[in-house]
Amino acid sequence: MDSRPRTLRRKLLQWVSIPLIALWIISTLVDHGVAKGFVNLNYDRALLDTALDLGRNVRESGNQLYLDLPEHVVEMLISGQQGRFYYRANGPDGAYITGDPDLPDPPPEALDDRVTYYDAVYRNDAIRAVALRVPLRPGTGSGTILVQVAERSQLRENFARQIMVRMMIPQGILVLLSTLTIWFGIGLGLRALTAVRREIESRSHVDLSPLDESAAPAEVRPLVRAMNGLLQRLSAALASQQRFIADAAHQLRTPVAALKTQAELAARQARDTELSATLQQLHSAADHSARLVNQLLSMARAEPGSHRSVMRQPVDLSVLARETTGEWVPRALARNIDLGFDDRPTRSTISADPFLLRELLGNLIDNAIQYTQPGGHVTVRVRSEDADTVLEVEDDGPGIPAEEREKVFERFYRLPGGSPEGCGLGLAIVREIAQGHGARVSAHAGAGGHGSRMIVRFAPG
Ligand SMILES: Nc1ncnc2c1ncn2[C@@H]1O[C@H](COP(=O)(O)OP(=O)(O)OP(=O)(O)O)[C@@H](O)[C@H]1O
Ligand SMILES: [Mg+2]
Repeated sequence: MDSRPRTLRRKLLQWVSIPLIALWIISTLVDHGVAKGFVNLNYDRALLDTALDLGRNVRESGNQLYLDLPEHVVEMLISGQQGRFYYRANGPDGAYITGDPDLPDPPPEALDDRVTYYDAVYRNDAIRAVALRVPLRPGTGSGTILVQVAERSQLRENFARQIMVRMMIPQGILVLLSTLTIWFGIGLGLRALTAVRREIESRSHVDLSPLDESAAPAEVRPLVRAMNGLLQRLSAALASQQRFIADAAHQLRTPVAALKTQAELAARQARDTELSATLQQLHSAADHSARLVNQLLSMARAEPGSHRSVMRQPVDLSVLARETTGEWVPRALARNIDLGFDDRPTRSTISADPFLLRELLGNLIDNAIQYTQPGGHVTVRVRSEDADTVLEVEDDGPGIPAEEREKVFERFYRLPGGSPEGCGLGLAIVREIAQGHGARVSAHAGAGGHGSRMIVRFAPG
């Protein structure tokens, strides 16, 4: 079976080339018929000329009829260029004069005609013959001489075939050229589709805005329109789902915060140590839930389709990163971690949503502080590389094993054996925000192969 995909181009080509080839075959058959007709006409005429020549040269000598032909003419007759002629001359009453005695007679129904053409079989070959009745010249006697000249029909067939082949070849070339022209023509026509394909391919999953209908050719426009309809419905469905998650997380926030406060209060008030331990656990579970709710809310805000994902403005990444790092200093101090900002003068204005950028950087700093042992160092850095603006958070903690550096960006994925805090959404939020800004985020080993270095690379524009 043909495993190649059915392309529109091949289908169109089939529809056009099959009738073309059929036409070619039909025209070849017609050509053959026409060529045969012409060849027959001309060959019959030549046969008749030969018969007339022979008839003119019948002489009489002493009551005996004979054919008065020079030797070389007879020679030419029986071994001509076109193949040999057969001939016979009979006198009145069928008396044999000369030639091939067993040449078939003309059909009896044509006995009275002066000239008769007929087909017969002679020595196992099909032949075409002419029979000519020539009246004896006055003085040589009365009655008619029957002169017959024949040749193999194959000669005519061969000639007709040659003519047909010569007509067929240019027509075949024409069919081939038309097919090639159509093949390339369709290719050029379909190029308009490539523009639409490129536009779709160049998009990230964040961009659900409608495709440009005016760039598509009229035939493709309904398809683009249908696709835009789908994009619109998809975007509405996504937005409603995100709204739901955001609303749910928002609704959960207050009761979870209350639960946390109450559990903390109860744990402090409990005198019973066992009860106190249980309440302590309740407090940390509530703490975890509060974190989860917050991260879910961030996630919903970062995802494509949320109203935030389009609020871009020029942001100086250096300034924003320095400020955000400053906000995290108390957390770092509490864990005895040296949190620093590597101040390099650099052109770092990008088009972004400052709120989401703070969320992104916050998650990276949070991880670095969270997973680095007390006494460790965390450095936030903004630099330019080629035309890109790069944001880095580096620490000298345990680092992320090379084989886990992709997976940590998945939702709810946490390194096995890590701390029980955290819910595994931080880096997924980071990736979501980065993608929403056309940036790429990746995890690497820190300086000297120790710790980890998270790199977010913003392309210009
Ligand atoms: N700087 C880092 N050093 C070492 N391990 C890290 C670092 N950053 C992330 N990880 C590992 O990657 C995992 C995923 O991080 P992510 O921020 O997505 O989730 P989390 O920190 O566990 O939870 P949260 O959603 O509360 O941030 C973490 O559980 C941790 O094991
Ligand atoms: Mg985290």
